Amino acid sequence: MTLDAQAIAGEKAAMMLGFGNHFATEAVDGALPVGRNSPQHVPYGLYAEQLSGTAFTVPRAESRRSWLYRLRPTANHPAYRRYETTSQLRTGPFAEVPPTPNRLRWDPLPVPADPTDFIDGLVTYCGAGDPAAATGLGIHLYAINRSMGRRAFYNADGEMLLVPQQGGLRIVTEMGILPVSPGQIAVIPRGVRFRVELLDSVARGYVCENYGALFRLPDLGPIGSNGLANPRDFETPVAWFEDEDAPFEIVQKYCGGLWTTTQSHSPFDVVAWHGNLAPYRYDLDRFNTMNTVSFDHPDPSIFTVLTSPTDMSGTANCDFVIFPPRWMVAEDTFRPPWFHRNVMSEFMGLIHGAYDAKQGGFTPGGASLHNCMAGHGPDQASYEGAVRADLKPHRIENMMAFMFESRFIFHPTRFAVDTPLCQLDYDDCWTGFQKAQLPHMTETEDDQA
Ligand SMILES: [Fe+2]
Repeated sequence: MTLDAQAIAGEKAAMMLGFGNHFATEAVDGALPVGRNSPQHVPYGLYAEQLSGTAFTVPRAESRRSWLYRLRPTANHPAYRRYETTSQLRTGPFAEVPPTPNRLRWDPLPVPADPTDFIDGLVTYCGAGDPAAATGLGIHLYAINRSMGRRAFYNADGEMLLVPQQGGLRIVTEMGILPVSPGQIAVIPRGVRFRVELLDSVARGYVCENYGALFRLPDLGPIGSNGLANPRDFETPVAWFEDEDAPFEIVQKYCGGLWTTTQSHSPFDVVAWHGNLAPYRYDLDRFNTMNTVSFDHPDPSIFTVLTSPTDMSGTANCDFVIFPPRWMVAEDTFRPPWFHRNVMSEFMGLIHGAYDAKQGGFTPGGASLHNCMAGHGPDQASYEGAVRADLKPHRIENMMAFMFESRFIFHPTRFAVDTPLCQLDYDDCWTGFQKAQLPHMTETEDDQA
């Protein structure tokens, strides 16, 4: 079998299962060195290259690295120069506009009229921290109508969690191919080159760019050894490569700037690899949702899929939290999310369906931002419906919302506050509530209005 034929066969092969496992995969038989990482002579003359995602000296349980065996070393490229773009991609420290305490909500990002691929289609809404300090995150949306062709992207500032909302993607990475559809997520490690190809005519979604500690599964505490996102449902692609000696543009994001170079060959030339740092995908429908079977509404941390911890125990740089279909059975309970003010800041998106705390305005592809101590919760219509509801077992169906939650306050970008997508009437969600009536009070005219 030729190298190309084996590469095609590799694309059709099953994904490898498990979160953070030590995988070993080869697209060509015998390409993967046995028993050592860097032998004097790598099979077929391939070049051995280590890709580290954590410091060499972190505790073993946190160490993430892989060894890649490729046709040419990554180092074989000309110098990068600045990438000329009018992109709305932004990076921390975020200081374009003063941080606002106001609650913000946006209509869906429209797909541009001009041909736009993933690199040029990223639009930053908000973020926190600074990639140079390896802390914080950037939150972007993409709306695109073109595959990347002979362009690859990599991010030196952080790993990227993609949440497709409309349109499937075929993400070709150095370490294999990840097809992802709305309802699935994909995580691309820092530094891994990838290109995004469209499986439909247009695509839209959300991206969390995590400058901090790598996403991991949350601890389960008293839940026990099973539940929430189970490790075996995470999928990592087998090795796949293309052998193309033709110019290929590489665009990287480095300390906030975009840089470009053109090299003589495809960067997707990794014939074999092994290790535990790799792209992966996860189907959100596999989430084993926990909820109350007695009373009260648990904190949404019960819905955490992945977490990026900080040095302060239990305090996340970013939690990726979902609100999936589930049964609501709580007795004597206000079942939607309660009113709240949190120290953590919340950016929400909606993949499909309707979110149970809002009767309108928060639509698929849209987004909202509730920063530290911003009072929010159900809108007036949702509140009235919930307090009058007959509390029979009720299944929330046909919806998938999510949240990027952080200990850090999100600073919106200038685009986010100036765009006409920003709903200037969002505060009206929380007008019209009747004042509670204590026994000695009489209703005012305002309350009766
Ligand atoms: Fe909230």
